[in-house]
Amino acid sequence: MNGQWLMMLLVSLMTFQFLSFKALANPVHQGDPERGKTLAEVRCAVCHHLEHGVVKVGPGLKGIFNRPPSISGVPFERWDSHALDRWLLHPRKIKPNTRMIYPGLASERDRRDVIAYLRTLQ
Ligand code: HEC
Repeated sequence: MNGQWLMMLLVSLMTFQFLSFKALANPVHQGDPERGKTLAEVRCAVCHHLEHGVVKVGPGLKGIFNRPPSISGVPFERWDSHALDRWLLHPRKIKPNTRMIYPGLASERDRRDVIAYLRTLQ
Protein backbone atom coordinates (compact mmCIF):
# COMPACT_ATOMS: atom_id res chain seq x y z
CA MET A 1 0.00 0.00 0.00
CA ASN A 2 1.51 3.35 -0.96
CA GLY A 3 1.24 6.58 1.02
CA GLN A 4 -1.60 8.02 -1.02
CA TRP A 5 -3.86 5.06 -0.38
CA LEU A 6 -3.08 5.17 3.28
CA MET A 7 -3.99 8.83 3.34
CA MET A 8 -7.32 8.21 1.62
CA LEU A 9 -8.07 5.41 4.00
CA LEU A 10 -7.35 7.67 6.95
CA VAL A 11 -9.50 10.49 5.58
CA SER A 12 -12.45 8.20 4.97
CA LEU A 13 -12.10 6.67 8.43
CA MET A 14 -12.08 10.13 9.97
CA THR A 15 -15.13 11.18 7.98
CA PHE A 16 -16.95 8.08 9.10
CA GLN A 17 -16.06 8.77 12.72
CA PHE A 18 -17.21 12.34 12.39
CA LEU A 19 -20.55 11.28 10.93
CA SER A 20 -21.23 8.70 13.59
CA PHE A 21 -20.25 11.22 16.24
CA LYS A 22 -22.81 13.64 14.80
CA ALA A 23 -25.42 10.91 14.89
CA LEU A 24 -24.68 10.27 18.56
CA ALA A 25 -24.69 13.95 19.42
CA ASN A 26 -28.19 14.32 18.03
CA PRO A 27 -30.02 11.11 18.85
CA VAL A 28 -33.15 10.53 16.85
CA HIS A 29 -35.22 9.87 19.95
CA GLN A 30 -35.10 13.53 20.97
CA GLY A 31 -37.54 14.32 18.18
CA ASP A 32 -37.61 17.23 15.78
CA PRO A 33 -39.83 20.06 17.05
CA GLU A 34 -39.81 21.85 13.68
CA ARG A 35 -41.20 18.81 11.91
CA GLY A 36 -43.56 18.28 14.84
CA LYS A 37 -44.93 21.81 14.47
CA THR A 38 -45.79 21.20 10.83
CA LEU A 39 -47.45 17.90 11.73
CA ALA A 40 -49.41 19.45 14.60
CA GLU A 41 -50.62 22.28 12.39
CA VAL A 42 -52.01 19.75 9.93
CA ARG A 43 -53.13 16.98 12.30
CA CYS A 44 -54.12 18.70 15.56
CA ALA A 45 -54.90 22.38 14.92
CA VAL A 46 -58.32 21.64 13.40
CA CYS A 47 -59.44 20.78 16.93
CA HIS A 48 -56.83 22.34 19.23
CA HIS A 49 -55.41 25.81 19.65
CA LEU A 50 -51.67 25.27 19.82
CA GLU A 51 -50.47 28.66 20.97
CA HIS A 52 -52.92 29.25 23.79
CA GLY A 53 -55.07 27.42 26.28
CA VAL A 54 -58.57 28.26 25.06
CA VAL A 55 -60.88 25.34 24.21
CA LYS A 56 -61.67 24.85 20.51
CA VAL A 57 -63.06 21.35 19.88
CA GLY A 58 -60.56 20.05 22.43
CA PRO A 59 -58.56 21.87 25.12
CA GLY A 60 -55.83 24.31 24.07
CA LEU A 61 -52.42 22.68 24.06
CA LYS A 62 -50.22 25.54 25.24
CA GLY A 63 -48.38 24.38 28.34
CA ILE A 64 -49.70 20.83 27.95
CA PHE A 65 -46.32 19.19 28.52
CA ASN A 66 -45.98 17.86 32.07
CA ARG A 67 -49.32 19.36 33.07
CA PRO A 68 -51.98 17.17 34.69
CA PRO A 69 -54.76 16.26 32.23
CA SER A 70 -57.63 18.74 32.09
CA ILE A 71 -59.88 15.96 30.78
CA SER A 72 -61.34 13.15 32.85
CA GLY A 73 -60.96 9.43 32.34
CA VAL A 74 -57.28 9.15 31.46
CA PRO A 75 -54.96 7.11 33.70
CA PHE A 76 -52.13 9.65 33.76
CA GLU A 77 -50.92 11.98 36.48
CA ARG A 78 -49.42 14.32 33.93
CA TRP A 79 -48.87 14.62 30.22
CA ASP A 80 -45.24 13.55 30.11
CA SER A 81 -43.64 12.02 26.99
CA HIS A 82 -44.85 8.55 27.87
CA ALA A 83 -48.47 9.59 28.49
CA LEU A 84 -48.61 11.73 25.35
CA ASP A 85 -47.08 8.94 23.31
CA ARG A 86 -49.72 6.46 24.42
CA TRP A 87 -52.55 8.97 23.96
CA LEU A 88 -51.46 10.00 20.48
CA LEU A 89 -50.97 6.41 19.39
CA HIS A 90 -54.56 5.50 20.12
CA PRO A 91 -56.79 7.85 22.17
CA ARG A 92 -59.74 5.45 22.18
CA LYS A 93 -57.70 2.67 23.68
CA ILE A 94 -56.83 4.92 26.61
CA LYS A 95 -60.33 6.38 26.99
CA PRO A 96 -63.01 4.42 25.10
CA ASN A 97 -65.62 7.19 25.19
CA THR A 98 -63.24 10.04 24.46
CA ARG A 99 -64.50 12.97 22.44
CA MET A 100 -61.18 13.11 20.65
CA ILE A 101 -62.31 11.42 17.47
CA TYR A 102 -58.89 10.77 16.11
CA PRO A 103 -57.44 7.53 14.75
CA GLY A 104 -54.03 8.24 16.29
CA LEU A 105 -50.58 8.91 14.95
CA ALA A 106 -49.34 5.48 13.92
CA SER A 107 -45.78 6.53 13.15
CA GLU A 108 -43.44 6.53 16.12
CA ARG A 109 -41.35 9.24 14.50
CA ASP A 110 -44.44 11.45 14.02
CA ARG A 111 -45.43 11.04 17.68
CA ARG A 112 -41.92 11.79 18.85
CA ASP A 113 -41.73 14.93 16.73
CA VAL A 114 -45.19 16.17 17.75
CA ILE A 115 -44.30 15.62 21.42
CA ALA A 116 -40.98 17.46 20.92
CA TYR A 117 -43.04 20.35 19.56
CA LEU A 118 -45.63 20.22 22.38
CA ARG A 119 -42.71 20.52 24.81
CA THR A 120 -41.87 23.91 23.33
CA LEU A 121 -45.39 25.28 23.95
CA GLN A 122 -44.69 26.62 27.42
C1 HEC B 1 -61.23 15.75 15.78
C2 HEC B 1 -60.72 16.67 16.76
C3 HEC B 1 -59.37 16.39 17.37
C4 HEC B 1 -58.15 16.15 16.75
C5 HEC B 1 -57.88 16.07 15.25
C6 HEC B 1 -57.17 16.04 17.79
N1 HEC B 1 -57.77 16.18 19.01
FE1 HEC B 1 -56.85 16.10 20.84
N2 HEC B 1 -58.64 16.27 21.77
C7 HEC B 1 -59.86 16.47 21.15
C8 HEC B 1 -60.92 16.47 22.14
C9 HEC B 1 -62.40 16.67 21.85
C10 HEC B 1 -60.29 16.26 23.39
C11 HEC B 1 -60.96 16.07 24.74
C12 HEC B 1 -61.12 14.56 24.89
C13 HEC B 1 -61.95 14.08 26.04
O1 HEC B 1 -62.40 14.91 26.85
O2 HEC B 1 -62.12 12.87 26.12
C14 HEC B 1 -58.86 16.15 23.13
C15 HEC B 1 -57.88 15.97 24.11
C16 HEC B 1 -56.52 16.04 23.89
C17 HEC B 1 -55.51 16.08 24.91
C18 HEC B 1 -55.75 16.13 26.42
C19 HEC B 1 -55.77 17.61 26.79
C20 HEC B 1 -55.85 17.93 28.25
O3 HEC B 1 -55.96 19.14 28.56
O4 HEC B 1 -55.82 17.05 29.12
C21 HEC B 1 -54.31 16.12 24.28
C22 HEC B 1 -52.94 16.17 24.93
C23 HEC B 1 -54.57 16.12 22.87
N3 HEC B 1 -55.92 16.07 22.65
C24 HEC B 1 -53.59 16.19 21.91
C25 HEC B 1 -53.84 16.13 20.53
C26 HEC B 1 -52.79 16.16 19.53
C27 HEC B 1 -51.30 16.34 19.82
C28 HEC B 1 -53.41 16.01 18.32
C29 HEC B 1 -52.76 15.91 16.96
C30 HEC B 1 -51.84 14.82 16.77
C31 HEC B 1 -54.84 15.94 18.57
N4 HEC B 1 -55.06 16.02 19.92
C32 HEC B 1 -55.82 15.83 17.57
C33 HEC B 1 -60.06 16.63 19.78
C34 HEC B 1 -59.11 16.40 18.81
